[in-house]
Amino acid sequence: MSGKFNGRVAFITGGSRGIGKGVALRLAEEGAKVAVIDINEEALNEVQTEFTEKGYEIYTKKADVVNAEEVEAVVQEVVSTYGAIDILVNNAGIIRDNMLFKMTDSDWQQVMDVHLKGSFNAARAVQKYMVDQKYGRIINISSTSALGNRGQANYATAKAGLQGFTKTLAIELGKFGITSNSVAPGFIETEMTKATAERVGVDFSEFVKFNVSKIPVARSGKPEDIANAVAFFADEKSSFVNGQVIYVAGGPKA
Ligand SMILES: NC(=O)c1ccc[n+]([C@@H]2O[C@H](COP(=O)([O-])OP(=O)(O)OC[C@H]3O[C@@H](n4cnc5c(N)ncnc54)[C@H](O)[C@@H]3O)[C@@H](O)[C@H]2O)c1
Repeated sequence: MSGKFNGRVAFITGGSRGIGKGVALRLAEEGAKVAVIDINEEALNEVQTEFTEKGYEIYTKKADVVNAEEVEAVVQEVVSTYGAIDILVNNAGIIRDNMLFKMTDSDWQQVMDVHLKGSFNAARAVQKYMVDQKYGRIINISSTSALGNRGQANYATAKAGLQGFTKTLAIELGKFGITSNSVAPGFIETEMTKATAERVGVDFSEFVKFNVSKIPVARSGKPEDIANAVAFFADEKSSFVNGQVIYVAGGPKA
C-alpha cells in the first residue's frame, strides 16, 4: 500500500459513520494509519471490521469528545500504539435544531459542548505531540450553517466559532509546522441530514431533491466530497495553506 499519507497517523473524531468515516477511508486508502473515536460503539465495531478486511490499519475507541480526560487518555494511547498523531480531524457533531423561541438550554449547551469543547479538547490533547515533532495538520469540520441557518442558532454559532478557533490555532501553531484549516460542508447525505428530514416530517428523497434544487452543481454532497477537501489540507505539500476555510457545497457560499 502506498500513498501520500504513508507513515502518517490520522485521528478522526466521530469517524464511525458519515463524513468522518468517509475521511478515515480516504486517508487510509492513501496510506495513513487511522484512529477513530466515537460514542457509537456498534458503528465503531463495524468500521473496525470493514477497514481491517480492506487491509487498513485502524484503531477504534469509544470516547466522548466532550470529556477532556477521556480524550487525553485516548490520544496518549494512540501515540503509544502508532508513535505519533500527524493529522487531527475534528468531525464529531450533533444537531439539536429548533427555532430560537423553542430552543432549550440543553439544545444550546449540548451543541456547544460537542462541536466547540470537543474540538478544543482534541486539539489541546494532540498539540503537544505535534509541537514536539514539529509537524501537524489540524482540520476542523465547520458548515455552511456558519453563515446563518433558520432553526440552527446553536449549531450556526458553534460552526462559526470553529472557524475562529481554526484561525487562532493557525496563528499560534504555525511556527511549529502545524497548519490548521477548516472544511465547511454544504448539504451532504448522511445520517445527520436523514435525521433532519425526519424531524421536519419529509421523506428523505424529497428532502434531498429540495436541497439539490438550490445547489449550483445540481447534486447532493457525499462524504467523499468532504474527504477530498480534508485530504488537500492534510497533505504535507499544503504547508503554506493555513487558517483557511473552504466551503464544499457545490456552489459559492462565502
Ligand atoms: N451532513 C451534512 O450535511 C453536514 C453539513 C455540514 C457540516 N456537517 C458536519 O460534519 C460532521 C459530520 O457530520 P455527519 O453528517 O457525518 O453526521 P453523523 O451524525 O452521521 O456523524 C457524526 C458522528 O459524530 C459522532 N459523535 C456525536 N457526538 C459525539 C461525541 N460527543 N463524541 C464522539 N463522537 C460523537 C456520532 O456518533 C457520529 O458517528 C459534523 O460536525 C457535522 O456538523 C455535516
